[in-house]
Amino acid sequence: MGAPRFELGSRPICHLTPRSNSNQVIPSPQKRTIFDLKFNLLYMSYETIVGRTKEDYQKFGNKATGYIGKHIVGTGEDAHLTTKVFLDLLKPHVILISGKRGSGKSYSAAVILEEFLSLPEEFRQKMAFVVFDPVGIYWSMKFPNDSQSKLLDDWQLQPKGFDAIKVYVPEKQLADYEKADIPVDGTISISLRDLTADDFILAFNLERTGELAIALEKNFNSLLESNKNFSIDDLIDSITGDPKAKKETKDALTSLLDVLSQWGIIKTEGNRVSELIKPGEAVIFDFSRLKSQEVRTLVSGLITREILHQRIISRKEEELAKIGGEKLSMKFPLTWLVFEEAHNFVPADRDVSSSDDIKRIAKEGREPGIGLICITQMPSKVHQDVISQTDTVISFRLTSRDDLQALHSVMQTYIQEELEKFVNRLPRQSGAAIILDDNLEKIFTVNIRPRLSWHSGGTAVLV
Ligand SMILES: Nc1ncnc2c1ncn2[C@@H]1O[C@H](COP(=O)(O)OP(=O)(O)OP(=O)(O)O)[C@@H](O)[C@H]1O
Ligand SMILES: [Mg+2]
Repeated sequence: MGAPRFELGSRPICHLTPRSNSNQVIPSPQKRTIFDLKFNLLYMSYETIVGRTKEDYQKFGNKATGYIGKHIVGTGEDAHLTTKVFLDLLKPHVILISGKRGSGKSYSAAVILEEFLSLPEEFRQKMAFVVFDPVGIYWSMKFPNDSQSKLLDDWQLQPKGFDAIKVYVPEKQLADYEKADIPVDGTISISLRDLTADDFILAFNLERTGELAIALEKNFNSLLESNKNFSIDDLIDSITGDPKAKKETKDALTSLLDVLSQWGIIKTEGNRVSELIKPGEAVIFDFSRLKSQEVRTLVSGLITREILHQRIISRKEEELAKIGGEKLSMKFPLTWLVFEEAHNFVPADRDVSSSDDIKRIAKEGREPGIGLICITQMPSKVHQDVISQTDTVISFRLTSRDDLQALHSVMQTYIQEELEKFVNRLPRQSGAAIILDDNLEKIFTVNIRPRLSWHSGGTAVLV
């Protein structure tokens, strides 16, 4: 049986998914306004799978879904929790998590990660999550959430740490993590050869047709063409020996490249990113102690590009295996990318070195099987190419009109005032959010469930 859909007036509110295949009689939408109470009771007995279309529900039922929270019904003092809300993890989605400071964004992203890590093996072993963490909070998922055990108890859940959370940090900062007792699984570095001249131009914010960009591009490309391994120092030597470049150009590029070299993350021979990403695991690239945002975007862009590349190759082989009737073997797992502070990695008003790679994932990730989760306090500051491809929004309270407008552009069918009403009416409790599901054109309120694992991103208090 397909999942029935209800409409409140002209406003689609919920795609309700039966908990079981019972033969419950569903009232028609017209009768709904008359039988509010009856509807509420019915509403409470159905579960929702965000992002799963009716067709997919008919095909897959509730396989590979993650339990992210419960419906909130009613407002103000009447607000109460009802049925469970799940998230579709079978297919890649583009998800935006927005809300004011301290509203629960990182917390809910971690809930999604926990659900991936709790999937049955047959699904988990085909997937991986990669988190770009400039804040330095996801490592704590290795530990159980003992600080909210009472709340977890109320939700009939138990604290749990996850061993499949793997934390990679830049080599130069490794000692700092060890000093702070933060468990680390390895270091990350990238190969100079894997970058393009464009990456440098964007990272250094150079004018494309300016002398600096031209000298950099020429020397970098000639080293690439030499087919030999080279270091940042070799690049500096090549530029300083360039007879056509002016002294000021050489000095400026040398100092930019010196700074880059000091971060120690770009090497002659870096890690193979594909070797760090393993099926069934969530890899956290913790860049919180790498203070240069330019280097963070440079590295994140490159990793994103490499993942897309690996998935395109893998997808071709998977198709060939399917055509040949062989068992599906996956060279590289279906990957979800999570960007904390997404407005810095794919900003609305300028290009940074990760911009194109993230936009490409948003636009083309569906086919190779790459999901994207962008977390931001300011959705209006995230590039429109990502916003327009977003199919699911989880939003906590937002006050700026520009930010509400940005959410509105995800779901054009929905009138702005209605959206504002939904957001403003959110109960002032931790974890209360609206979900906009563009797959099913619905909007509703949820309370994100408490985390099983330790959350290290809470508000600092004096006592
Ligand atoms: N679903 C929830 N259940 C219980 N508590 C929650 C929930 N969501 C958030 N909280 C509480 O709110 C605090 C802040 O959440 P979180 O760190 O996710 O905020 P944020 O939106 O990411 O903020 P920032 O923009 O500053 O990064 C958490 O430390 C936690 O105590
Ligand atoms: Mg946060």
